[in-house]
Amino acid sequence: MIEKAFNPEDFKATGYELIDTLSEYLATTQQNPDKLLVNDYQTPEKQREKWENYDFANGLSEYFKEFLQDSIHIHHPRYMGHQISTTAPIAALAAMMSDFLNNGMGIYEMGQSSVAMEHLVVQRLAQKMGFDDKAGGFLTSGGTLANLTALLAARRKQATANVWQEGNQQPLALMVSEQAHYCVERAVKIMGWGDAGIIKIPVDEQFCLRTDLLQSYYEQAIAQGKEVVAVVGSACSTATGSYDNLEAIADFCVQHNVWFHVDGAHGASAVFSDKHRHKVQGINRADSVVMDFHKTLLVPALATGLVFKDVNDSYNTFAQNAHYLWNDDEEQEWFNFAKRTFETTKFPMGFKVFTVWSYYGDALLEEMIDTIYGLGDTFAQLLQQHPSFELAMPPACNIVCFRYTATHEDLSKVNSLIRQHILAEGKFYIVQALLNGETYLRVTLANPATTAQDLEDLLEHIVQIAQRQVPATKV
Ligand SMILES: Cc1ncc(COP(=O)(O)O)c(C=O)c1O
Repeated sequence: MIEKAFNPEDFKATGYELIDTLSEYLATTQQNPDKLLVNDYQTPEKQREKWENYDFANGLSEYFKEFLQDSIHIHHPRYMGHQISTTAPIAALAAMMSDFLNNGMGIYEMGQSSVAMEHLVVQRLAQKMGFDDKAGGFLTSGGTLANLTALLAARRKQATANVWQEGNQQPLALMVSEQAHYCVERAVKIMGWGDAGIIKIPVDEQFCLRTDLLQSYYEQAIAQGKEVVAVVGSACSTATGSYDNLEAIADFCVQHNVWFHVDGAHGASAVFSDKHRHKVQGINRADSVVMDFHKTLLVPALATGLVFKDVNDSYNTFAQNAHYLWNDDEEQEWFNFAKRTFETTKFPMGFKVFTVWSYYGDALLEEMIDTIYGLGDTFAQLLQQHPSFELAMPPACNIVCFRYTATHEDLSKVNSLIRQHILAEGKFYIVQALLNGETYLRVTLANPATTAQDLEDLLEHIVQIAQRQVPATKV
């Protein structure tokens, strides 16, 4: 079996067929998207049964085609759901190559090119964010892990006790918008700070952290004996795509000498656009920033940048001996990433990012941000002109929340029902969000192939579903 599994000719034949299949698929998503559902939704049980009993009698190519058929089609212009980027085809080729080579590049010797590329990518990202040459960092496996890693560094730097060695000695806490991604709370819980360790600051009508409340919440925390280690700004938040006022948070953090972390997993990529960079003004005053390349910048998941204003802080997060990997524990070696990352064996994500960014240059990434943020504005205009819809708030990026209102029924129930029907029919893929206790429909426009016509058709599709499924419609 081993000889069969490694046969170069079989690999070549199957590989060519697979590339043919994917190229045709890409062409279909561009030229004939109507031939393809965005998501041929089946129940989890049906999918489990299918693969449990799968018979490879028709060969590997057929197997790959079936997997393709049953996948959700991010390249389809009517995919408008969760925050994930369409992948640039050359990034997918790089990903295939790095999977094949399996260079587990936590240390330099295990993937020298990828290590160098990752370093260059992060240095360039730091520059784009406006940091000086003291900044640095690395790539890691997703925004969730990157936020945890940054907050561990914050704890190391700010907490009076050395928690790494002595364990939690006194109540630590951070402050963050109540609209922040759940992974910030998860990080707090992992660090053992409990419910009291996350101080949620209310938001304004644009769902941005109310920076005018930071001082009073801080004073209350201090009065309760808590040590406030960090403030986390969202750039932007997940549900509505709202950008917190980073300058104001930075001022507060300087005044109180606390760590300023920016969760820019979704929206820090605005730094690539002249038009939208102002939304993250103040980002270069953060002590650490997280940004996902896989949410808006054409790179396959996972590929997350974690940038520190002072690269020295990145070396203190995990102080551990690992003599089987490197000689000197204390030495700051930029090229042995495992000293600084959560991962030991590390996926060579720098290669994917470097391939897209260096081959096409900044211009592609800027065009991508301008296009998808522009789609957000186009959709908002369509919603404002339509009598049957309400826009939750003017979008700040490519995330738009809205709801169907032409009914006398309970709006949350109706919109939730609409979303279920959209999922079942599979012609579009959108998601939902809970805002102030009410259910809204939510799109993330991360596919530059989406057109204004697709957005108009989505509204028409929703109206038709509502008229079919909801008895008491107004129009
Ligand atoms: C603001 C924000 N932070 C963090 C995350 C988590 O990122 P990842 O899915 O890469 O772990 C998300 C994902 O939706 C997000 O929107």
